[in-house]
Amino acid sequence: QGELEDGIDYMFKIVMIGDSGVGKSQLLNRFVKNEFNMKSKATIGVEFLTKTVLMDHKVVKAQIWDTAGQERYQAITTAYYRGATGALLAYDITNRQTFDHIEKWLEELRMHTDKNIIVMLVGNKSDLSSARAVPVEAAKDLAERENLFFIEASALESKNVESAFLGLLSQVY
Ligand code: GTP
Ligand code: MG
Repeated sequence: QGELEDGIDYMFKIVMIGDSGVGKSQLLNRFVKNEFNMKSKATIGVEFLTKTVLMDHKVVKAQIWDTAGQERYQAITTAYYRGATGALLAYDITNRQTFDHIEKWLEELRMHTDKNIIVMLVGNKSDLSSARAVPVEAAKDLAERENLFFIEASALESKNVESAFLGLLSQVY
């Protein structure tokens, strides 16, 4: 991990995963910059943003990695996952397929990281509940079965985004 910067007590690497279009980049954008872009373009390659938060009087710096959920870009794996101690796994509550792919994402994650990696399952776009295709109960059941933390959120409405990331960080920490 290298030496920590001045004043930083802990540094954690978090990876964002989930299908294309579920809102990974906008969840991150909301958490780090408090911004949202309705015309967000599909991510190409890998980017990361950092956010420093205070936890139990300790300064915790999160380095949060974001990449493309699109199948054709999936040559990322090893380097992307290396050193990650937490993952934010997102699906879109209005798109059943993105939820059906959660198991596949978990398999890939567990293949490339420590088996005990902390995972926060995030049902994003809760603002579109009139178009809901994934019942909350289904997600809760999956989370329980797979040992994940779970929350529904909206990057658009800035709802539960902090709770998702801070909840994940507090478990990692
Ligand atoms: P890839 O980079 O291709 O893997 O996609 P992504 O998961 O990063 O999705 P992105 O954040 O780019 O968002 C995809 C689309 O969903 C964009 O049009 C966003 O504006 C929209 N979006 C993201 N979050 C929300 C949300 O909470 N509510 C609504 N209504 N739309 C959202
Ligand atoms: Mg993206």
